[in-house]
Amino acid sequence: MLPPWSTATIYQIFPLSYYDSNNDGKGDLQGVIQKLDYISSLGVNAIWLNPIYKSNWIDAGYDILNHTEIDPIFGSMKDLDELIRQAHKRNLKIMLDLLPNHTSDQHPWFIESASSKNSAKRNWYTWRDPSPDGGPPNNWKAVFGGSVWTFDAGTQQYYLHTFYPQQPDLNLQNPNVRNAIFSIVRFYLNRGVDCFRLDAASHFAKDNQFRDNPLRKDWQQITDPYEQQEHLYDKNLSKRYEFINELSHQLNEFPHSYMITESYLNLAQLTDLHKNTNTHNHTACNFHLVEAELDARKLTTWINSYLAMCNKQNAVPTWILSNHDRTRIASRYGHLAARMMAMLQLTLPGIAFIYYGDEIGMQEAKIPESYRHDLYEFHNRDAQRTPMQWSPEANAGFSKVKPWLPVHANYSIVNVENEEVHAESTLSYYRSVMQIRKELYNSSTIKLQHKQGILKYTNNSHHIMLNTSPNKVSIKPLKTIILSTYGDTKTGEVRSLLRPYEGIIYA
Ligand code: BGC
Repeated sequence: MLPPWSTATIYQIFPLSYYDSNNDGKGDLQGVIQKLDYISSLGVNAIWLNPIYKSNWIDAGYDILNHTEIDPIFGSMKDLDELIRQAHKRNLKIMLDLLPNHTSDQHPWFIESASSKNSAKRNWYTWRDPSPDGGPPNNWKAVFGGSVWTFDAGTQQYYLHTFYPQQPDLNLQNPNVRNAIFSIVRFYLNRGVDCFRLDAASHFAKDNQFRDNPLRKDWQQITDPYEQQEHLYDKNLSKRYEFINELSHQLNEFPHSYMITESYLNLAQLTDLHKNTNTHNHTACNFHLVEAELDARKLTTWINSYLAMCNKQNAVPTWILSNHDRTRIASRYGHLAARMMAMLQLTLPGIAFIYYGDEIGMQEAKIPESYRHDLYEFHNRDAQRTPMQWSPEANAGFSKVKPWLPVHANYSIVNVENEEVHAESTLSYYRSVMQIRKELYNSSTIKLQHKQGILKYTNNSHHIMLNTSPNKVSIKPLKTIILSTYGDTKTGEVRSLLRPYEGIIYA
């Protein structure tokens, strides 16, 4: 029996960088299949694959050419079928990225839509006349830079794209578009896929009147033009819940299926989302920890409020420390604090995401300009997408040839092979926490407390204490320690202080 979603630990794989089985320098589905025993040994319950569909490769696969074809870089549909079969055999579920918000500008739907103002697919995307001065219809900015509007000389109108111009937004108000997305969802659920991550869910609806966004009061202090605006009219509109709810309804036909929306939301926005969406087969990403400060007081306040909200709304909490868009935890916090944050994440109730490589303490690599792939102007994301470090061999054992992105310079030390045999390694540490995670309750009624930079809570009969400070802190002597983030504490040892950024679990 596959485990329920509400307690899942989801291992995120960026497939281009996981394992290259055919030596072309890029990871592929057979590569993931070959590593399933390793993945299963981590104690996780599910694998999330970043997009594997046929793509035009402008945005690492997030610009789809054909939703029901696997990109040849990764293999074929047969490989996906085999991956699903082999994963299920090991009680691992499969989660795919679903992209209802946009396609590639080379997708047949968009080509047809752009072909004429009278095209049957014209309103599958958003087209507007120029403003009276001939410029774009309004002031909305694209996430990746520039305007959201690109002019099409052929039909003399602008089309809307939240991300790159090569990623036109689908018009999800159009029932034909929604049905097209639903049939893609059914296509994969029928193949055995268990869950979808709803990419870019904040952007599923836009203002019908296309009103200008106001500037934020502090816009002059902000360099990224996208962040200078208050996104009143192009983002997080409640109209988007209609699509999410309809999709949730579609999933009902497949009783164990699930979906998780990707939106960077504050607590009020998360509350609103959970209030307004069906929760039995849906939850939302909580990204608070991808930017959280190491501050016990602030963490306690936020986490307690979030858990109370989840409890009230009957929503499954989620915990994310990093991903393919954000900095790696070991680079953001340093090794010690990264392990401490992993202890927090993995001992709280709900779903936890582990980004591939974080379980061995992978860090962000310096990427020479000649290798640069990600075009995102303000936050280049190549550094967190480098090849998985499997061994001290050439190219970190990822590939026999030069990889598509360079491996981190520390690969001869930080790699799976080395860490497998060291009890104090990050890998051994993750496995130990995952073992304890199995014994925890999944109840959102847990309450955190804090004192002198130490965060404290109890889950089932396990007590967790996390020192969020760089100082040693004295504690009441304890002799029932089960695990320390330092990986060197012997069972039964008496401890009367916590070392810098140390986390412990005790009985
Ligand atoms: C994905 C990004 C991607 C963007 C556009 C996001 O939310 O996580 O990697 O660039 O959607 O598809």
